[in-house]
Amino acid sequence: MKSQLMLKTLAVTIGLGSFVLTSCVAQSTAETPAPGSSVEAPAANSPSVAPSPQTSPDALAQRVKRDVPYVPTPESVVKRMLELGEVGSDDVIYDLGSGDGRIVITAAKQYGARGVGIDIDPERIQEANANAQKAGVIDRVRFRQQDLLQADFSEATVVTLYLLPEVNLRLRPQLLNQLRPGTRIVSHAFDMGDWKPEQVVEVDGRTIYAWTVPEKVPENLRQASQG
Ligand SMILES: C[S@@+](CC[C@H](N)C(=O)[O-])C[C@H]1O[C@@H](n2cnc3c(N)ncnc32)[C@H](O)[C@@H]1O
Repeated sequence: MKSQLMLKTLAVTIGLGSFVLTSCVAQSTAETPAPGSSVEAPAANSPSVAPSPQTSPDALAQRVKRDVPYVPTPESVVKRMLELGEVGSDDVIYDLGSGDGRIVITAAKQYGARGVGIDIDPERIQEANANAQKAGVIDRVRFRQQDLLQADFSEATVVTLYLLPEVNLRLRPQLLNQLRPGTRIVSHAFDMGDWKPEQVVEVDGRTIYAWTVPEKVPENLRQASQG
């Protein structure tokens, strides 16, 4: 029930119509995975996977167990997120749940950063790779088909998120255990429970939250929070 309400909030933040909203809620309810679950099919972007009725990206995407539906961040919000993350050419930016790759592609194109996008959906990975090619940044970005809750993102100097409140809270211990002090975390729309953000900014009706991983992480923040 709570999860459905949160999904509605996510959809409302991007102004989707009621048809799409209903689809997202239905899809997410049906596809909410058990912790640690991943995809049930190989990467569709692998050149060795020949599309067929059984293995086409569409067919694979149907079998992916997403924790969050795909909703892209508007470009104006992407721009502000990268500013809040103080992204520069020395940074390695990870977008956890990277969709069509727009956040890491923009970071590479505008700031010369290196970027890694992680998404569980092979169709999104394929789309992100095509977008990186078009943007001329394939030397600086990579996209990995993986469950973000199982991922190693310890090399990141900036992490971006557009997930859901409960996914942020499940991810929080991982972020604080893996990331080095000084790493910036920027989240579109959702906060991190009792880990208070350093900055909260509004852009075009959207809220962006920003944190920096502290030298000394309070023990309560290392544990999964109920908010
Ligand atoms: C709301 S979209 C955000 C896309 C992109 N970050 C942006 O801001 O435009 C969330 C993305 O997370 C992906 N996703 C959902 N559950 C995931 C999981 N467990 N592991 C990795 N990616 C996941 C979805 O496929 C979707 O592309």
